[in-house]
This record gives sequence, C-alpha cells and structure tokens, in this order.
Amino acid sequence: MPVIAVIGAQWGDEGKGKVVDMLAEKAGVVVRFAGGDNAGHTVVNQYGTFGLHLIPSGIFYSHTVCIMGNGMVINPSVLIDEIDQLNRRDVATKQLFISDRAHVIMPYHTLLDGLEEKWRGGKALGTTGRGIGPAYADKVARMGIRTGDLLDKEAFLERLRSILDYKNAILTKVYEVSPLSLDTIYGQYCQYGERLAPYIREITIMLEEALAREELVLLEGAQGALLDPDFGTYPYTTSSSPLAEGSCLGAGLSPTRIDRILGVFKAYCTRVGGGPMPTELGDETGDLLRESGHEYGTTTGRPRRCGWFDAVAARFSSRINGFTGAAITRLDVLDALPRLKICVGYKLNGQTIDYFPSSIAALDRCQPIYEELPGWQVPISHIRDYEQLPVEAQQYVARLEELISCPMNLISVGAAREQTIHKMPIL
Ligand code: IMP
Repeated sequence: MPVIAVIGAQWGDEGKGKVVDMLAEKAGVVVRFAGGDNAGHTVVNQYGTFGLHLIPSGIFYSHTVCIMGNGMVINPSVLIDEIDQLNRRDVATKQLFISDRAHVIMPYHTLLDGLEEKWRGGKALGTTGRGIGPAYADKVARMGIRTGDLLDKEAFLERLRSILDYKNAILTKVYEVSPLSLDTIYGQYCQYGERLAPYIREITIMLEEALAREELVLLEGAQGALLDPDFGTYPYTTSSSPLAEGSCLGAGLSPTRIDRILGVFKAYCTRVGGGPMPTELGDETGDLLRESGHEYGTTTGRPRRCGWFDAVAARFSSRINGFTGAAITRLDVLDALPRLKICVGYKLNGQTIDYFPSSIAALDRCQPIYEELPGWQVPISHIRDYEQLPVEAQQYVARLEELISCPMNLISVGAAREQTIHKMPIL
C-alpha cells in the first residue's frame, strides 16, 4: 500500500479534513505533518460535526493510527481539550500518538504572537494568534521545547529556566509587559506532560513498521501552498511548510516513500488574514460565496475573503508540489451563480503574465484576466456520478483539470463523507 500526501493547494481551508477523513477508512496510519492549532479541519460523519485543530482527521476510525508529527507545534492545553471533547462524544483516542520531536507551544509564544502583531500595526499579518510563528522561530533558533522534554522534569526545568530568562527580558524590556512566572509555567507544563505521556513516543520506527506491513499511510497537510514561507505570499504566510516537500520532513519519511500527492483545491478561492489575493471579490458575488460556503474561519471565526478560482496560483501550486491528482471541493457552493469566472492570467504593469510573482507588491498590482463559463444553477449536492453533473458543471471541472494540469480524482459536493464524486481512482 502506498503513501499519499494530502496537500492544501491554495490559502488553506480547502477541505483537507473531509478528504483525509474519507481516505482514512482504508488507511493504517494518518500523520499530520505541519502547523498547530492555527488549522481547523472540519469533519462531518456519523458522530456529528467536528472542528479538529490538532488531532489528525483519521481519528474517527478505530483501526487507524493517528500521529502528530515532528513538524507540528502543539499547544498541550488545546490538545487535551480536543482529546477530552472527542472522548466525551464516544470517539476513542487510544490510537493517537505524538512525536517526541514535535515542538510545544508555550505561554510566551501566544503572548508574543499578539504583541508582535500589535507592534506591526497597520502591517499586521493577521495571524491566528495561536503562537505559531514564535514557536517555529524558537525551533530554528534552537530555543524550543519539544514534547519529549516534558517527560524529563529535571532537564525540563533547567531548559525552561534559561529560555524563560530570555523571553522575560524581551517581554519586559521590549514590550514593557509583566514577566511570566517560571513556577506557574513549570507546574502547568509538568501536568500536561503527565497527561500526554502515554501518547508521546518515537515515531519513525512506528512508521517504518506500518510501511513494512504495506499499510496505507496518509500524510495530512495543514494550511495551503500559498501560505508556505518559501513559496507563498511572504511575509503573509504561516511559519511551517504546508507543501508536499514539507510532508517528508514533518512526518519523518523519505521523499522516496511518497507515491501520490493529492492537491486539494476549493472550486473558488478563499483567504483569511492579510496579504494579496488577486481574485478577491469585494462585491455581492463575494458575499454570496461567503454565505453559501459558510466561509468563516474554523479557528478564529473570522470571515474569509472570497474570490474566483485563480488558475495562475493553482498551476504554480501544482508545479511546486508535483501533484499527481487533485480533489476539488465545494463545487456545490457555485450552484446559484449564472456565470463563473476563472483567472487564467494576470495583467502586471501593462504586460500579460502567466506566473505567480514572488513579490507581494507585484502580486498586489496584478489584475486578473478572466475567462467566463456558464453556471449550472441547479442543486448538485445529491449527485454521486460525474456523468450526472449538469454539463456546465462538467465543463467547469474539465477546464480546471486542464488548467491545473493533473487528473481530478475527487469532487466534493457537500460536507458529508458520502457527498463525493469519485471521478478517477487515486491509486
Ligand atoms: P499563523 O499561522 O497563525 O502565524 O498565521 C499566518 C497566516 O496564515 C494568517 O494569514 C492566517 O490567517 C493564515 N493561516 C494559518 N493557518 C491557517 C489555516 O489553517 N487556514 C487558513 N489560513 C491559515
């Protein structure tokens, strides 16, 4: 059985949770490989509706091992809450494991996330405020605390003491706020460590064994390619790599092990937070997409910015990720629209370009060049066969397929697992 990476292809919120939840039925293992509780993966199934922030979306199958990979940053209090909520709703978490190399979000990370945003003033990035950027910054600055550190209380105290000395200097001298208490944080995080100890372990051997047993392994992405710190709209990005490339590093798997890379695209575009988005609609069509798509952040509740499908960005995403197939989600949200637009190029400084500029100033100036297609204007959420879709919907999907340049495997026409059209097998 192969390894499939499920990757957000736009600015996040593409519907990866639903896709992973569906594919996980046959999976032995699901590994979430990046991000933290900035993500919100919505899953609708027989247990109800769930907004998972940290726990992999395979958790609803008792036979599926769910791993929180080394590439994640984990807020233990949020995780414990999520575990408790699942357990209260009869979803077991016995199959959940946390890499001992994953980093821990500390109280100073969330505090600094807010203070740094305030410091940026009008140039704030619009982060989720979950401490993600400061935690990843500490990881590369070699000042992080990993989940495994929580299990050795003495060593943890020493490490926390020296890190907190430095953080408190920043808090008091730069931001002029009160210092944080070592005793309080130490006590609280020792408790978290005790509670999470049964879940924390070395992961690479576990993965190797699953591959030796030829189990299907899913690598679950968080956020989307256009939020990647290297290839996204930097600095309006997140701080870990949501790309297929990031899935190897964040799960602890060699690139040679990955067999399929499934790009998840929404049938239109959305974005939360700051940064350029060439196809953003400030009109009633944008409002219609927001309302019929319930486009409000799962994590922060912020209204998402909505716009037409951007095929220039999609091609770029496909190129850097090497998608072997695609899933298109929320096609049904377009049901009511009489005409649909797809951005097939940009006008920049009087020139037509077909690439995604690296400079946000340039991207901000890009004017979308649209192609128009007729809408279908009938409900499609009940349809399960591609051939049953209205011809206009088939035309729209076929055009996206052509523009993205990879086969369309899945089409989602509603939030529930079964509201899916299997157009072409992934494997
Ligand atoms: P951070 O990841 O909280 O630092 O936020 C950085 C940027 O990424 C902000 O624009 C967020 O809105 C965006 N972002 C982070 N996580 C997600 C996500 O799961 N979906 C959509 N946008 C996200």
